[in-house]
Amino acid sequence: MSTDATADPSRRPRSAPANPRARPRESPLPTAGAAYWEAAAASFDDEPDHGLRDPAVRAAWAARLRTWLPSGPAAVLDLGCGTGSLALLAAEQGHRVTGVDRSPRMIARARAKLAGHEAALLVGDAAQPPVGERRFDAVLVRHVLWALPDAAAALRRWAGLLAPGGRLVLVEGRWGEAEPMGLPAAELTDLVAPLAAGIRVESLVGDPVLWGKEVTDERYALIAELPGRDAAVTGAVPQPPCG
Ligand SMILES: C[S@@+](CC[C@H](N)C(=O)[O-])C[C@H]1O[C@@H](n2cnc3c(N)ncnc32)[C@H](O)[C@@H]1O
Repeated sequence: MSTDATADPSRRPRSAPANPRARPRESPLPTAGAAYWEAAAASFDDEPDHGLRDPAVRAAWAARLRTWLPSGPAAVLDLGCGTGSLALLAAEQGHRVTGVDRSPRMIARARAKLAGHEAALLVGDAAQPPVGERRFDAVLVRHVLWALPDAAAALRRWAGLLAPGGRLVLVEGRWGEAEPMGLPAAELTDLVAPLAAGIRVESLVGDPVLWGKEVTDERYALIAELPGRDAAVTGAVPQPPCG
């Protein structure tokens, strides 16, 4: 997430808590409210890592996504999909994408962006996605989990939406230097570990092309593989995270 963004969470009022999950009911961040993102939708894509308009930035995210998502055509659920930039990359890679965002304006932009692709874009809550009994091969979430009021509950819900052997692809960070905010990789690993058969954390700091600039704060992708069909059937205990 660019720290220059209009929707930049690090530009919160100084009275707001550094970590919204730590004190969810006190003084919530402006980014916790739907109105914030409705207002941000029009200019959201202006940031290099949001709109992916620069071919080099776009190619860098496409290359990462190819390694994070299943290799064959898969059912991908993009939660808090915003204007649909990653959803579009996934669709272009042959996946069947469902995107969910609470902001109708974000979803309107995502629908325009994904027109002509096999994709469904829905207005709804990422914590309780309106997908009924459908199951997915991957749940993709970029820069959303850190601001949800109960990250652990959301992760349990998302794990339940995965088919056996499915994966969570979580792109998060702890942005800013002086007063960082977000979700550190170690904390997210602890939250995901009870759900996963294996976890891989990939730093995204050393690749400035992703962000359109050099960054030095914490940015990463966490890919969590869920237990496969055998474990799901037998109730086998997941192995420890693979580091
Ligand atoms: C920082 S943007 C990220 C957008 C997109 N994932 C991306 O990486 O380009 C956060 C998005 O999450 C959405 N969002 C925040 N809380 C949400 C919730 N509880 N349910 C659904 N969407 C939510 C906002 O409307 C916004 O579009």
